Amino acid sequence: MANLRSKRIAGLFRPHWKRLVLIGATVAGASAVTITNPFLLREILDTAIPGQRPGLISLLALGMIAVAVASALLAVVQATASAVVGQRLMHSLRVAVYANMQRLSLDFYTRTKAGEIQTRIAGDITGLQSVLTTTAGQLITAISSIVASLVAMVVLDWRLTLVSLVIVPVFVWIGRRVGRVRQNLAGVKQQRVSAMSSFVGESLSISGIILGKSFGRTQDMTKQFTELSDDLAQTEFKAALAGRWHSASFQMVTASLPILIYWSAIFTFTGDGVSVGTIVAFTALQTQLVWPANSLLRLILEARSSLALFDRVFDYLDLVPSVAEPRSPRDLPRSRAGRRIEFRDVSFTYSSAERTSGGGVHRVSVDIVPGSKVGFVGETGSGKSTLAMLMTRLYDPSEGQVLLDGVDVRELSRETLADAVGIVTQDPYLLHASIAENLRFARPDATQEQLEWACQMAQIHEFITELPDGYDSVVGERGYQLSGGERQRLSIARLLLKDPSVIIFDEATSALDTLTETRLLAALEAGLPGRTMVIIAHRLAAIRRADVIHVMSQGQVVESGDHGQLAGQVGEYAGLLAASAIRP
Ligand SMILES: Nc1ncnc2c1ncn2[C@@H]1O[C@H](COP(=O)(O)OP(=O)(O)OP(=O)(O)O)[C@@H](O)[C@H]1O
Ligand SMILES: [Mg+2]
Repeated sequence: MANLRSKRIAGLFRPHWKRLVLIGATVAGASAVTITNPFLLREILDTAIPGQRPGLISLLALGMIAVAVASALLAVVQATASAVVGQRLMHSLRVAVYANMQRLSLDFYTRTKAGEIQTRIAGDITGLQSVLTTTAGQLITAISSIVASLVAMVVLDWRLTLVSLVIVPVFVWIGRRVGRVRQNLAGVKQQRVSAMSSFVGESLSISGIILGKSFGRTQDMTKQFTELSDDLAQTEFKAALAGRWHSASFQMVTASLPILIYWSAIFTFTGDGVSVGTIVAFTALQTQLVWPANSLLRLILEARSSLALFDRVFDYLDLVPSVAEPRSPRDLPRSRAGRRIEFRDVSFTYSSAERTSGGGVHRVSVDIVPGSKVGFVGETGSGKSTLAMLMTRLYDPSEGQVLLDGVDVRELSRETLADAVGIVTQDPYLLHASIAENLRFARPDATQEQLEWACQMAQIHEFITELPDGYDSVVGERGYQLSGGERQRLSIARLLLKDPSVIIFDEATSALDTLTETRLLAALEAGLPGRTMVIIAHRLAAIRRADVIHVMSQGQVVESGDHGQLAGQVGEYAGLLAASAIRP
């Protein structure tokens, strides 16, 4: 598992190998350049100053300046290359996750909180930013500085080098201990961030605000948020503290290293000609060693805590849609007019519904002939919307088939199906944009005349022209600057612009007064002759004139026929009719 993950992370970097080689080369170059400094220093102390040679001092000083300039230039090249690699990786991860989320089916979204998804795309991938952009480069820098300094130290004096190495076990011990703590905390932290942003997204949405205010629960919401925020603060605090004591003790140990060297030099190796220049150069190298060692420790910790983030991102990349696109999609014959929809013995149960009764539909067989107008009625929860979702393939049946002009909808591409079958759902969604932009979501190249044609049919054109900004008026978040009926009519106009051959209205006119509803349906019939229309409604007025009416109950079609036939027999429909009749 861990191995697989590292392979996958390595796989992300693979396409960028040329830049990585460049980064490695600049880093190695910079380290090689930097370690010449102590040797120049030793020459100044041991030769130039005792020998009173100002020319040599100037030359050596010039060398030191050249070293500083060269390493600064190399650092710029390296930082640029690292940033490019890191940003490209982040970009491709973001896009890969988003694209996979678009592939996922509706069932995933009915299960998952929206805030959770946002955190993974925005939060987790951004969390990887430092690891992807700078950590890799800094890691190579640290390692190569350490190697270079060690080599230089050995060249200066191998015995003093051995003395310095007492630090290594301390270093390893600290790294391992803190790493474990940090990795666990990183996972917990992301969960808390998700929980908080889910809560914000839910409670501060329009529907959430209405809910909170109308139930007088606003203060409780704030209290709940306080708890979530406190949880997060605790975790952040622990994460910040983790390893602080360890790195502090590490710094104390490293700070005392030069003293160790002076002692060793005086008491042990003095007779062997360790010059002052060597000792000064050596301790200078040691300080040069301390910061890469320290940053190595930090980087290892960072890399380890990022593993939890990688896991969360990979999880999302690995999600498989339950409603999959066909491998080789079939074409539908072209048709401007209506199409046939057939339900053949279709059963469907929601995977999340472990209830024994209800939920989904059971053994439905319905034949909707091209160009016909078909109504679905029935008690609430009887499965009408579920049938609509199966026609638009938001779900796949567990048994049986849904056929469009004889082709199983599972064999059609999403685009083909969406072009042929359009739906206005019970709870239509408008984007926070202008009316025209919302309409053009259905058809980006639609002309103003086409927009007006659709709106006229949907009985909303006049209303729009009376708005100060007309078609450029912004509808607000989810369209909440409009009334329920205006939102519905706008959604209908949007669908008409797409002009599919099968039109499904799931309670799409429920918020309209009966007069407007009748006018709208009559306009559709006249303006779009021959389209197949499926109308789901509770109000019988909307489906009264349908060619066939199917009555549903508990996931099954229990009666079918036209209004006259159904009204004339004793059954569900007659019952509904009697209940809806207004008696004086
Ligand atoms: N995502 C879901 N997960 C689990 N069960 C669901 C889901 N969606 C709907 N159901 C259940 O499936 C059944 C049929 O729902 P459906 O939405 O098809 O009813 P409907 O006939 O459209 O009702 P209404 O007239 O109230 O819109 C209901 O019992 C409902 O609780
Ligand atoms: Mg419904």
